[in-house]
Amino acid sequence: MSKIKIFDTTLRDGEQSPGASLDNKEKLQIARQLSTLNIDVMEAGFPITSEGDFKSVSAIAKEIKDVTVCALARAVDKDIDCAAKALKSAKSPRIHVFLATSEIHRKFKLIKVKEEIIRTAVKGVKRARKYVDDVEFSPEDASRTEPDFLVDVVEAVITAGATTVNIPDTVGYAVPEHYAAIIKNLRDNVKNINDAVISVHCHNDLGLAVANSLAAVKAGATQVECTINGIGERAGNASLEEIVMALKTRKDFFKHTTGIKTKEIMATSKIVSGLTGLRVQRNKAIVGENAFAHESGVHQDGVLKESTTYEIIKPEEVGLPKTNIVLGKLSGRHAFKKRVKALGYELPDEEFEHTFSQFKLLADKKKEIYDQDIEALIRDEKSEVPHIYELESLSINCGPVPTAGISLRVGKGKDKIIADSAKGDGSIDAIFKTIDLLTGIKGTLLDYSVRSVTSGKDALGEASVDVEVEDNTYKGRAVSTDTIEASAKAYLNAINKVAIKHRRKKST
Ligand code: KIV
Ligand code: ZN
Repeated sequence: MSKIKIFDTTLRDGEQSPGASLDNKEKLQIARQLSTLNIDVMEAGFPITSEGDFKSVSAIAKEIKDVTVCALARAVDKDIDCAAKALKSAKSPRIHVFLATSEIHRKFKLIKVKEEIIRTAVKGVKRARKYVDDVEFSPEDASRTEPDFLVDVVEAVITAGATTVNIPDTVGYAVPEHYAAIIKNLRDNVKNINDAVISVHCHNDLGLAVANSLAAVKAGATQVECTINGIGERAGNASLEEIVMALKTRKDFFKHTTGIKTKEIMATSKIVSGLTGLRVQRNKAIVGENAFAHESGVHQDGVLKESTTYEIIKPEEVGLPKTNIVLGKLSGRHAFKKRVKALGYELPDEEFEHTFSQFKLLADKKKEIYDQDIEALIRDEKSEVPHIYELESLSINCGPVPTAGISLRVGKGKDKIIADSAKGDGSIDAIFKTIDLLTGIKGTLLDYSVRSVTSGKDALGEASVDVEVEDNTYKGRAVSTDTIEASAKAYLNAINKVAIKHRRKKST
């Protein structure tokens, strides 16, 4: 059994998902969890693209020491120099250089002939090798590149010093047999192929990203690039949890292992969906809400008699707690702590105490508190930003012209109260306009959603917003048994982030 390296690109390709932008604090939180999950390589970002990306790659490189931290760069001097700078304090840095090689990209995007492509790729790899010993090269759109030319490119970059060659199916065009044949062709024809790790990177445009990656493993690839929950450009990337659990569950067939601590999968999935706002579909393999739910009577009967009748994976293997205990009003601190731990969270004392007090408040309003409720409270706690404004009271007049009346607590001791009201196109619009008026921060609402965390009329509602202020997008989220209140708090959560930024700017 040989080990397959898991290269996670949630923070780079995953973050390229429309609507998934993360701030640096959130990226660091995900990076910490990825390191707990025990991935081998973490692609932390594409530093040349923005100051924010540069800063988050630097912060991750500084803190995460047990995983290789990788930064992406085009085969362009300034990109490579910037990636190297961002990785300066990494213990185990990798620079990932990419350049498109397919005819379509050469002709229409790069306007370069084959010889120039090889020259540029080699130059890029050599430059990256001046900074670090671990250099990955990706011939972008490899699956649509002429096979003989791909052999030439791969051989040249390995000679130039690439230690990993990644073969991207950039547009999700490949099918398993075809993709496996590409890997086999490289193994058979690239003279120095044994001097580098063969990696695969598949997109899911035809829903084949995982199947293609696994076919490539069977053909000899030993690194798989993937993302948590399969998030990524367009239809996404190969999903980490599916790759890992397929290799584990069918080790009889693949004969490979990974270093992933599979019990951390569920917690990682939840952190990523909570912070990116990209919800996991109910029937998603491994981490979807229905992945281990048995509805049919025949199946339920079978599972009760012997779980392997209808379950190929034990829920506990991926970190789903094996308990149906429902907490309520009478549950104490100890029971709550145990539940939080079983759900995969470790909360610092202060965060725990605050979450526990929120749990008690919720238990006064809601008879039964489910795991999803507790997780929503934890997500709420994690998304807390230091408050400049705190919601004191909210009233809504839905009449012919919806009007909101809001009072906020402000000031150091939150001892000052400001209040105002505004009209809007609907109740929610009126609330957001009133908050704009009170805070003096004008936000443009890009996205707004409310979902019920559990079922039942006393269910907790979770509101999420994306608000644009001065060309930056701020995410806000909040929970409450009252969805109108959750919406107001979510919007205020985003506005507080802007207010904090303004305050920091003022004090520097
Ligand atoms: O899909 C792709 O080709 C990429 C490369 C940068 C590896 O993400
Ligand atoms: Zn990609």
